[in-house]
Amino acid sequence: MPTAKLILDDTTVELPVIVGTEGERAIDIRKLRTQTGYITYDPGLANTGSCQSSITFIDGEAGVLRYRGYAIEDLVEHSSFVEVSYLLIYGELPTRAQLEQFQDRLTHHSLLHEDMKKFFEGYPPSAHPMSVLSAMVASLSTYYPDSTDPEITELNMIRLLAKLKTIAAFSYKKSIGQPYIYPRNDLSYTADFLHMMFAVPSEPYEVPPLFEKVLDVLLILHADHEQNCSTSTVRMVGSSGADLFASISAGISALSGPLHGGANQAVIQMLEAIREDGGNYQKYIEKAKDPNDPFRLMGFGHRVYKNFDPRARLIKKLVDRVFNEMGINDPLLEIAQKLEEAALKDEYFIERKLYPNIDFYSGILYRAMGIPTNMYTVLFAMGRLPGWIAQWKEMREDPHTRIYRPRQIYQGATHRPYVPLDQRG
Ligand code: CMC
Repeated sequence: MPTAKLILDDTTVELPVIVGTEGERAIDIRKLRTQTGYITYDPGLANTGSCQSSITFIDGEAGVLRYRGYAIEDLVEHSSFVEVSYLLIYGELPTRAQLEQFQDRLTHHSLLHEDMKKFFEGYPPSAHPMSVLSAMVASLSTYYPDSTDPEITELNMIRLLAKLKTIAAFSYKKSIGQPYIYPRNDLSYTADFLHMMFAVPSEPYEVPPLFEKVLDVLLILHADHEQNCSTSTVRMVGSSGADLFASISAGISALSGPLHGGANQAVIQMLEAIREDGGNYQKYIEKAKDPNDPFRLMGFGHRVYKNFDPRARLIKKLVDRVFNEMGINDPLLEIAQKLEEAALKDEYFIERKLYPNIDFYSGILYRAMGIPTNMYTVLFAMGRLPGWIAQWKEMREDPHTRIYRPRQIYQGATHRPYVPLDQRG
């Protein structure tokens, strides 16, 4: 087994090297502190492998993304979101019988307990649907407690996948004051969600097949992304032994931030601000480059991709298809295209290898489908759910899992005498 040598003070320590199946190399520092007294310092954990995983592979330099070894491009072309969910959670593509059984289970667990509907009444109409989603998912553990029985744990995974779309659609209906539309067992996973979002009891609603297809592809593209912020949160919370619902509720909260999943909403808000400002996109490029301005070009840059995000490439193709087939003309698309073109030619972005990420064009597509802006990150969460479940399951089943408990380098005051209240001032 290869090793790395680390010289510290006057001792040399040999540390094992781990090599992944795609050739990535890591120095195994599990014994570092015991052997040397040193810890490592890595804010943002950019150089830290927190686990060994066999779910998703990304080569950020080459712009490659694979789920369980299958290229994202192939999955988008040939699979459905439900099939990809099965692949992520169970490790293999399902046979026809396995897929039918999985689909059937997802269909038959999609209703919410009637009492849960009352929870929606308690939130203000202005509540952000991501906050509602996180709270509702945490509440599921009050109905479906964790168990040492693996069959119950597995059933809870199915329940969560089946019910998340119902929760998401109900929270939207509540926010606009329309009656809840119940799930329909004759519709596909994606069509059922669109039906619950857009149907009303007073007239029939047909899910547009193009939207069903486009949303299905978008969900596949979001389905997993190895150890990103929300997934690491799911694993971290789960490492304490917390149940699936608690762990994924925490992941949803992590996803909501504008540097992570919340970026899809932030992109559209940025494009709208540019439009209101007369379409002067160059001004925003300059703002993004200014070190004294906190503004960032939303939907640009990525911790891992130092090349085109392959998901962004696939989404751009979808944008062309939807806009051509539907004859849509959205001024925000034109601004986005000009912004992208200008940024890709700009030395600042070239030097830092900043490319459009998944969030740059996904909002444009959601907008074309009539999905309200504050639901975009909820759709990201729906897509990411099978990935979170697969990662939580892998974490639970991995004999090397330990409770996440990083160390720190303390830089505060050293020991000092206590000052009584009347002597301070
Ligand atoms: N606009 C302008 N400058 C940027 C941007 C941006 N969007 N992203 C990074 N930079 C600059 C940054 O200022 C820094 O410059 P310098 O070296 O001069 O200090 C350099 O590029 C490296 O950036 P970083 O902040 O160290 O990179 P990171 O890996 O810590 O952050 C990121 C990654 C995605 C948080 C960041 O690129 C960003 O804030 N992007 C905008 C938000 C966004 O689109 N997020 C969605 C990410 S993809 C979906 C998901 O998985 O959530």
